[in-house]
Amino acid sequence: MAQPVLKAELSLLMLRFLRQMAKAVPPTLLSDRPLIKSLGRLRSAEAECTRCPLYKDATQVVPGEGGAQARLMLVGEQPGDKEDLAGKPFVGPAGRILNQALDDAGIARDDAFVTNAVKHFKHEMRGKRRLHKRPNAYEIERCRWWMEYERAIVKPAVIVAMGATAARSVFGRNVTIKKMRGKQHQMPDGGAAFVTVHPSSLLRMPDEADKRREYRNFVADLKLARRCLK
Ligand code: URA
Repeated sequence: MAQPVLKAELSLLMLRFLRQMAKAVPPTLLSDRPLIKSLGRLRSAEAECTRCPLYKDATQVVPGEGGAQARLMLVGEQPGDKEDLAGKPFVGPAGRILNQALDDAGIARDDAFVTNAVKHFKHEMRGKRRLHKRPNAYEIERCRWWMEYERAIVKPAVIVAMGATAARSVFGRNVTIKKMRGKQHQMPDGGAAFVTVHPSSLLRMPDEADKRREYRNFVADLKLARRCLK
């Protein structure tokens, strides 16, 4: 009777050991690049970014936010108008939904590292308004450089990619949200990844019942990720 329990405990110990080992291994992926070992230095380097033209029309870069010890990384698409002005990710309307959903999923936002696939606000002017424009494959690819540093420094046990742009950046290829959603994906560095919708897709839903249902699904995806952290 005690044997299955012992087995489960041993597997858990082994899993913890492997995670520790993974943290100790230097990121071979980044071996041919300038060494950036802290989030502070990364922020300074990101502030100088000219890897694609998006820096020209943005107010500032919006780096990832959170501690280097975070075990959960949440990845969005790109900063919006409010984020561009504040220099912080997810502080506008999409951020409010994300905060609510994290709360409902039992995740403290402060424990997570929150970032975006693209670090500058891409937009077009419509009168005086700055309208969000989706980043293209080139911009996502150029900005992936920074997310790879974030991943190498934070070494999250679990990554949640919110939306197609985030998923493309996390997996390095185009993925279909519908196919990838609701499953745990193994990353080459030993971490786990989940795919879900972007919170702003909920904002755009005209039907209240659809919105409520999709919100519940979003929270369920976050709960899956949380369970994987245990
Ligand atoms: N949408 C995103 O993808 N990221 C933000 O930071 C804000 C809105």
